[in-house]
Amino acid sequence: MLKAEENEILTRVGPGTLMGDLLRRYWTPACLTAEIPEPGCDPVRVRLLGENLVAFRDTRGRAGLVQENCPHRGASLYFGRNEDAAIRCVYHGWAFDVDGRCVDMPSEPVPFCEKVRMRAYPAHESGGVVWTYMGPRETMTPFRDFGTEGHDAGEFTAGKQLTTCNWVQAMEGNIDTAHISHLHQWDGVDDIPDDGSDKPGYPSNAMSWKFWRHDRAPRLEVDDTWYGYRYAGIRTTPNGNTHVRITAYAVPYSTMVASIPFSTGHGMFIPIDDQNCWRYFVTAKDRQNPRNLGGANLFSVAPFSTPITGRRDGILPRQYTMDNDFRIDRDAQRNGIFSGVSDFVSQDFMVTESMGPIYDRTEEHLGSTDKAITRMRHILISAAKGLAAGKEPPAVGAGLDFRSIRGAEKILEPDEDWRALGTDDDPVVQEALGIEPPLGAAGRPELAD
Ligand code: FES
Ligand SMILES: [Fe+2]
Repeated sequence: MLKAEENEILTRVGPGTLMGDLLRRYWTPACLTAEIPEPGCDPVRVRLLGENLVAFRDTRGRAGLVQENCPHRGASLYFGRNEDAAIRCVYHGWAFDVDGRCVDMPSEPVPFCEKVRMRAYPAHESGGVVWTYMGPRETMTPFRDFGTEGHDAGEFTAGKQLTTCNWVQAMEGNIDTAHISHLHQWDGVDDIPDDGSDKPGYPSNAMSWKFWRHDRAPRLEVDDTWYGYRYAGIRTTPNGNTHVRITAYAVPYSTMVASIPFSTGHGMFIPIDDQNCWRYFVTAKDRQNPRNLGGANLFSVAPFSTPITGRRDGILPRQYTMDNDFRIDRDAQRNGIFSGVSDFVSQDFMVTESMGPIYDRTEEHLGSTDKAITRMRHILISAAKGLAAGKEPPAVGAGLDFRSIRGAEKILEPDEDWRALGTDDDPVVQEALGIEPPLGAAGRPELAD
């Protein structure tokens, strides 16, 4: 439970709010590269942290992110002409480049371009996402590379889906391991044949469903890290083994959710404003489950649909919404699907959006399985207050290796510590990603003198 004023700090993102100021200190997805695919293409509207902006790719191929309203008399530049390496307002023809400079003022007998500058944010493209930095220029931090730098956008699946609630409650859903034993369950899990992988090592994805169902009250261990934390949801399997799901949280809005054997998929919850957010995901096509140790796809055994991909702009449509009660099927709910909703991600949308646009956390009753969520809130609120008191935000400096942050899932060997799983010290990660083990690490052949 939070005090009302803490809930306000946590959830409000507009300019001048504590959290809004904190979020503006991080490079943030503004839109997908696929939304502005080629030079001179149609501009798109971007609403980000409560600010109305327009993204465009100018005729020279540079991505720009500028205020939506023309600084002359406010017409929307979304309707503007993308031409001559600038966006030109259709009202009186003023034109602005990606840096917000006025480069043409054809309606004035004596143009005063140099006196007009519009709000423009820097753009950096990586992994199929157009990222921006909305904080003060003088505090601009290095781009945080979660593994996309130096790679073609085509090596990644990048997409986003609209979520009509506050970003924190949406992110809490992604961090919460306990709900997979409830919200996403269906009775057919009991009929999945035992393939013998309930033993120390990497189980099949199909068997994971069984473990989640078998032990519905996981124990949580949260470990603080330089970027936020990693935590394990610990369950006992039907054979009495210890199964861990490890999810990482990186300040402020990043999650790497558990998967077998480890995960590099980056899920981000990006505030549009206080009451809406985008759920972004960036996944390396060839580095997801590199040895395919999990066997069949997680969803191939489940009776759930998964998001439709393949739209040209990367925005996943929503067919299950509050307006249609998420297409809840009460017969299915009685007869096998715990939630009654047959689309996996929409099960998440149903619970997080039904809390209301901004959940009032003074009303909640938290238990031990909410430990990771309370930790995330604490980190965010302290960082926001800290920034206001002149403290550096966490995880923004140079030389930090965000590529090393991964989720993981495994059945532990006796005495095995979950903390090494999915890190650079994990032999499975080293083999899959070609990472050299650190000198002297276990398993590294000794060099002859
Ligand atoms: S309002 Fe844009 S040029 Fe006049
Ligand atoms: Fe979920």
